[in-house]
Amino acid sequence: MQIVEQEIRKPSKVKTWHKKTEHREAQFTFFETLGLPTSRQVSTIRPITILREKKLTQNGRNGLLHIQSRRYLGNKFKLLNFIEEIVKEKCAGYKSFCDIFAGTGVVGNHFNDNSTKIISNEALYSNYVSLYAWLAPGQFDKTKVSEYIHTLNNICLNGNNYASRHFGGAYFTMENAKKIGLIREKIEELDLNPKERAILLTSLLYAIDKVANTCGHYDAFRRILDTTAPIKLLIPDIKQERNWQNEIYCEDANKLIRSIAPDILYVDPPYNSRHYCDSYHLLENIITWKKPKVFGVAKKMLRGDLKSQYCLKTAARAFDDLISNANCKYILVSYNNMAEKGNQRSNARIKDAEIVRILSKKGKTEIFETNFKSFTTGKSRIEEHTERIFFCKTSR
Ligand SMILES: C[S@@+](CC[C@H](N)C(=O)[O-])C[C@H]1O[C@@H](n2cnc3c(N)ncnc32)[C@H](O)[C@@H]1O
Repeated sequence: MQIVEQEIRKPSKVKTWHKKTEHREAQFTFFETLGLPTSRQVSTIRPITILREKKLTQNGRNGLLHIQSRRYLGNKFKLLNFIEEIVKEKCAGYKSFCDIFAGTGVVGNHFNDNSTKIISNEALYSNYVSLYAWLAPGQFDKTKVSEYIHTLNNICLNGNNYASRHFGGAYFTMENAKKIGLIREKIEELDLNPKERAILLTSLLYAIDKVANTCGHYDAFRRILDTTAPIKLLIPDIKQERNWQNEIYCEDANKLIRSIAPDILYVDPPYNSRHYCDSYHLLENIITWKKPKVFGVAKKMLRGDLKSQYCLKTAARAFDDLISNANCKYILVSYNNMAEKGNQRSNARIKDAEIVRILSKKGKTEIFETNFKSFTTGKSRIEEHTERIFFCKTSR
C-alpha cells in the first residue's frame, strides 16, 4: 500500500489498513481512470493510512450481547477504523451523524458518544427494532429486563406454534423453533415500555441468528441440520447514557432525507439486485409477528412492499434524489467495486462514474480505498475486492 506522505505524522506508529492492498503508483484523478474529461471538482483515489487502529472483536464480552454480534451482509463492522480515519481527517467539529441505511447500526453506534447526536434509519422493521434497543433514548428497567430474559430462557415447551410449523426441522431444530415461537408470543403479553420491548426482541433476534442453520442469511437453509445448540437469549450491553439526543427511524431513506439536517450523512445502500428483505425475511417475519403465509423451499412471506429502489434499475435515480435533497456538511458513501466482476446478481447497480457525477454536483469529491474480503456464496470468489468511501464536502 502506498502511504501518502503528508499523512505520516508519526512514522513509527503508522499502521497500514491492509497489508495486501495493491500498491498504487501515484494519486490520479478519478475521471482520468474512467477515461472521462477532468472536472473542476477533481476526485482522487487515495489509499487511507490508519494511524490509531482499534482492536475490533465480534464476540460478546462478560456474557453480554454486543451490537456487532450478528451476521449481516454488507455490515461495516470491519471497516470502522477506515471510516473513522476519514471522519477524523475530514469532518472536524461535527455534532450529528446520520446513518441512513443503518442495517445493524454498527456505524452509527461507533460514533455514538455524549456529544454527538446519532440519527439512525432502516427500512426493515426487524433492524429498526434492534436500532431502537441499542441507540434510542428512553428509560428502561434493567432488572426487569434481565429477569424477563432469564424467564424466557427457561420457558416450558408445549405444542407446535407458527415458528415450529414453518421453520422447525429446516432453519432450526424443532425444539429451537418451538421455543422461538413461544418466546415471541410471550413478549407480546409482557408488560413492557417500547424500549424494553425492543430490548427483548433484539435479544431474541440475535439469539435466533446464533442457532440458524444457514450460512448467515435466510435465502436458504443448509440441508444437514447441524446447528443443534439450544437457543439462549443474552442481555444486550446498552450504553444508554450516550443515547439521550439520538433519533431512530424506520423510513425510506429518500423520504427521511427531506426532513433532517445532520452534519455528517453516511450512506451505505444495498449495492446489487439482492434485496435485504429476501435475505432476512425470516427475522422480519418473527419480529413483526403477523404470522403471514410463507411460500417455497425457503419459506418466505410476500415482500413486495419491502423491496428497495437501490436494488433495481432505478438505483442511480434514487441515489441522485437522495443526494440532491441532503442538507448536510459532509457525505460519506460506501459502495464496493464488484461492478461487472461477480455474477450477475452481485454486480453493482450504480457505476462509479455515476456516483462521482452525482456527488460532484454537491461539492468537492474524493475517494478513499481499502481492500476487503467480500462475502460470496462460495460460487464466485472476487479477487481484488476493495471497499471505498466516496467523500464529499458539500458547498451548501
Ligand atoms: C449495505 S446494508 C447497510 C449495512 C450497515 N451499514 C451495517 O454496517 O450493518 C444496506 C441496508 O439498507 C437497507 N435499505 C434498503 N433500502 C432502503 C431504503 N430505501 N431506505 C432505508 N433503508 C434501506 C437494507 O435493509 C439494509 O439493511
